[in-house]
Amino acid sequence: MKIGVIMGGISSEREVSLKTGQEMIRHLDGSRYEAVPIVIEQRADLIKQVQRAGIDIALLALHGRYGEDGTVQGALETLGIPYTGSGVLASSLCMNKQLAKMLLRAAGVHAPAGLYWKKMDDYDRLAVEQLGYPVIVKPNTGGSSIGVQLVQNEKELLPAVQEAFSLDEAILIEPFLKGTELTCSILEDEVLPILGIRSAHSEWFDYKAKYEVGGAEEKVIQLPPATLQRVHEAALASYRLLQCNVYARVDMILHEDTPYVLEVNTLPGMTAGSLLPKSAEAAGMTFSQLLDRIIARSLY
Ligand code: DAL
Ligand code: MG
Repeated sequence: MKIGVIMGGISSEREVSLKTGQEMIRHLDGSRYEAVPIVIEQRADLIKQVQRAGIDIALLALHGRYGEDGTVQGALETLGIPYTGSGVLASSLCMNKQLAKMLLRAAGVHAPAGLYWKKMDDYDRLAVEQLGYPVIVKPNTGGSSIGVQLVQNEKELLPAVQEAFSLDEAILIEPFLKGTELTCSILEDEVLPILGIRSAHSEWFDYKAKYEVGGAEEKVIQLPPATLQRVHEAALASYRLLQCNVYARVDMILHEDTPYVLEVNTLPGMTAGSLLPKSAEAAGMTFSQLLDRIIARSLY
């Protein structure tokens, strides 16, 4: 079977995507699959490259906009080429943190309340004061914590807001919830072992903590049964509500024993140090077996 590993792209997470793609290629079982790397440099390349490659399925290693957000999924649907993971709607919804949060909160899933600004004119320092410092300022779309900033006081607010607006058309300001960061990988409707994250040098799981060697400790976490059940329920409810398919990773903060969903990643990182392969390993699954299941289920 010919597998097109689509990676690169033009989002701020391009470098992470290239690492995910390389790692996938390294682990694809050579006796069953022929891996064809498809590195995207520009949006317009995608369709030509995919058609030229003559693949049976696209294994998506893209992250962020124009890849994880439903656009590539839509192009592949139009071409009639199967692809791995969630469809167009889930991909778009999960990429838009504000819309995803609104749906989750409406369904009773805890997600941090906050402010949503669509333009610099929306800047309202009194509203932020009401939320209470510290706050987290983040671009509404995108991933890998790029442009996400912890703001301790009013003085730090404006530069953080300007930085976030330089990366995105809309931004979120959320209260910084103290607690343990948890990540719940889901494969075929099953929650894999949950990892607790402790960042080595920062107060939260930022880009350095995510990708630098020794940046964070990510270990299977033991939770009291009642808490574990709440975390499982929140993860599965988010996955289902946002229409995810095959696999995804739900990131949360366990704050005062309540799981708050921060976001759902429809194409979670699969670099050498990434969380989904770690959770799979803890469930007794190798990286190759994880890819087998993702591919088989996506073709199903
Ligand atoms: N957005 C990165 C790749 C992740 O969620 O793992
Ligand atoms: Mg993300």
